[in-house]
Amino acid sequence: MRRFGICILALCTCLMVGTSVRAIEMLPTFGDIDHIHLPALIVQHADGDQSLQLKAQDTTYIDNAQYKETVIATKDMVHPFYVTIHVRQWKDVAITETWYEISHTEKKPVRLQRFDSGYLPLENGDLYLVHLHGNWAGEAVPTVERLTRGVKSIRNSDGARNAHLDAPEVMISLDGMPQENSGRVFGAALCWSGNFEIRVAATDEKGFHFYAGIDPMASEYILSPKQVFTTPHLAYTYSNEGMGGVSRAFHRWARTCGMLHNGNTTRSILLNSWEGIYFDITEERIIAMMNDIAAFGGELFVMDDGWFGGKYQRNSDDAALGDWIVDTRKLPNGLEALTQAAKDRHIQFGIWIEPEAINTRSELFEKHPEWALQERGRELKLGRGGTQLVLDMTNPKVQDFVFELVDDLLTKHPEIAYIKWDANASIQNVGSTYLPRDKQSNLYIDYHLGLIKTLERIRAKYPNVVIQNCASGGGRANYGLMPYFDEFWVSDNNDALQRVYIQWGTSYFFPSNSMAQHIGGSPYLMTGRTTPIKFRCDVAMSGRLGMELQPAHMTDTERAQCTTAFKDYKELRELIQLGNLYRLVSPYEPVPVVEQQQVASLMYVNDAKDHAVLFAYGLSSFMKQSSRRIRLAGLDPERTYTLTERNVRQGEQPCALDGQSFTGAYLMSVGLDIPLSTEYNIDYPSRIFELK
Ligand code: GLA
Repeated sequence: MRRFGICILALCTCLMVGTSVRAIEMLPTFGDIDHIHLPALIVQHADGDQSLQLKAQDTTYIDNAQYKETVIATKDMVHPFYVTIHVRQWKDVAITETWYEISHTEKKPVRLQRFDSGYLPLENGDLYLVHLHGNWAGEAVPTVERLTRGVKSIRNSDGARNAHLDAPEVMISLDGMPQENSGRVFGAALCWSGNFEIRVAATDEKGFHFYAGIDPMASEYILSPKQVFTTPHLAYTYSNEGMGGVSRAFHRWARTCGMLHNGNTTRSILLNSWEGIYFDITEERIIAMMNDIAAFGGELFVMDDGWFGGKYQRNSDDAALGDWIVDTRKLPNGLEALTQAAKDRHIQFGIWIEPEAINTRSELFEKHPEWALQERGRELKLGRGGTQLVLDMTNPKVQDFVFELVDDLLTKHPEIAYIKWDANASIQNVGSTYLPRDKQSNLYIDYHLGLIKTLERIRAKYPNVVIQNCASGGGRANYGLMPYFDEFWVSDNNDALQRVYIQWGTSYFFPSNSMAQHIGGSPYLMTGRTTPIKFRCDVAMSGRLGMELQPAHMTDTERAQCTTAFKDYKELRELIQLGNLYRLVSPYEPVPVVEQQQVASLMYVNDAKDHAVLFAYGLSSFMKQSSRRIRLAGLDPERTYTLTERNVRQGEQPCALDGQSFTGAYLMSVGLDIPLSTEYNIDYPSRIFELK
């Protein structure tokens, strides 16, 4: 944190020393900056004036066991317009959060035209920006580019989700091309699930300026007198241990500072019904799948989409969203029979919902068409299935409906231990029948405030139900919503090879116990690729392990491999889900020598550095390729570690490295020659080693 910590403290000190001090250093405002710099806050006052010059009034400090916070109250020099600046520095985690509270007592509403969550000057130099770009089934591709003069902007305009296309987290290397385990890197995450804009501006030759906040496009916020608008938090860190250092700071912060619900606990091994049976749910099929997951040693079964519907049946994605009643044509004995079946098999039961969505082919839409977001007098733009719309979460009645849907399920079926909360539509109809005409531009923001309010109500009553955050895969992997969720669905793409890449990028900001990773079928339906069961298991085992296929279609060998994988995973779970991540060889890294194999490798180490687990994946398979030496990281150089191979391929013995001992210094400087080459005679070889 050194440079940024000092920089923020200096700014706070500067604001403390006298009431004449202006807040511009921490919050550049339109009306108080020169023509070269960009403002982080632009407002139009009730009388039409557009300028703002904030002056510090008062500074208070909070110092508790977890963090130190500086709170600076500022006021405009002309209007009764106030901004309270918060800077919170976590004590055991190298993360700082900033946010602003904006209010006024002007005679009429004030228009907030831009309202970032934070601003930071960055040093001049050879800066590189890393951000995650991707799409449905191809999430989290690290995009690396050199920052040049001008303004670089990263935005997302989906409205309801923001981690498909461009995500609200970035890293900036201050030392040229970013390195994994060395070099100075700044990392930041905007804790928001709606539209955002992150800007890096180099408007003159002197330096770079970083801004992050809600995207003001079509979102001018109309702020009534005495109403307080709180910007989302911006969380940032600085590391001289490269991108890995930034990731580890975010992971620790997520787990220990409440940015991930139940962050410091481990998650169960599950089977999800989606890719096994899709909408073809019957009691018999569900119970058969429960038998399978219980036999493998799994702990939870999740019934995905297709279980609900009354007048309209949910047999495809074009009907019934909103009608959250059990479809007794498919499940004649209701959910009771399923929760009882789960109990009998000593596993837990979970269920899928998509609470913020509605189909035009639903009873809910017939009853409450006004609850869907819509533009006055215009034809509805329809999403998934040609009938899907988004509910108006700004409307308190809709918020109640969503709360009651969850409350009802959990009151009637207290055995439900897990909910998969999906969100498969973007906001295409930007209009609300609830918001007044002069506040329509609040919609994009009030939608999320309404959603958060509802999630807070749910969490207050149900703190322990595990809730998965899903949005057509990883569309809502962000720190705006994760404080209410235990994990997120990384991607709808379960192809193990592409998952190595998707999980790699996702781990830049999110800890492993939040990343839901499932063993998929083979050949895989989306890519047609055939991968061995061991590779599929080993790839899923590096995060929160689950499976998503029809177990009835598996061979005996595949079943046996999964049973071994589950057993070994349980013994390594704490290390994998709560350990410190070190990414060793990137799947994106070109092989240095042409005849070498393309590999990816990562490891987790516990805090005491006496227990670690290493994953190595072979991504290309040609006969007689040479394998690649992998240097480990994060170990104690003085200690001696003994290797045990885990999840050994069915019918094979552990490789020659099993049982061998090496010092941490050796493993980190010389490294290991892991047998991944095609002497194996198999596509997609992989190995897992435990180090003790
Ligand atoms: C989304 C989710 C999937 C699945 C389907 C069900 O696409 O990402 O995992 O739940 O919806 O319709």
